[in-house]
Amino acid sequence: TYVVTEACIKCKYTDCVDVCPVDCFREGPNFLVIDPEECIDCTLCVAECPVEAIYAEDDVPTDQQSFVALNAELSRLWKPIVERKDPLPDADEWAKVKGKLGDLQR
Ligand code: SF4
Ligand code: F3S
Repeated sequence: TYVVTEACIKCKYTDCVDVCPVDCFREGPNFLVIDPEECIDCTLCVAECPVEAIYAEDDVPTDQQSFVALNAELSRLWKPIVERKDPLPDADEWAKVKGKLGDLQR
């Protein structure tokens, strides 16, 4: 499966959503996750994300490992998003900021 990591938090550009053939993105207030039970590993979303937030599960950076379980957990709570929408208002300011996990809203 593919995994959305920290860079997405407070950005939510949603370019990834448009290319997913199986609509497996789920939307929270300031973050998206991928439902690991739906993702078919097509890889299309990876290149779409302007902040490079999406990784194959096996390639998730060491300091982002908690996002594997987080995507699985939150995908059970959040609703599907199937169409691109505007990014969050301050997305460009947050795009390169590290350590955003504490800002994740559920
Ligand atoms: Fe969707 Fe493909 Fe990305 Fe999985 S890898 S989330 S199936 S676009
Ligand atoms: Fe997030 Fe990147 Fe998609 S910022 S919403 S994973 S395009």
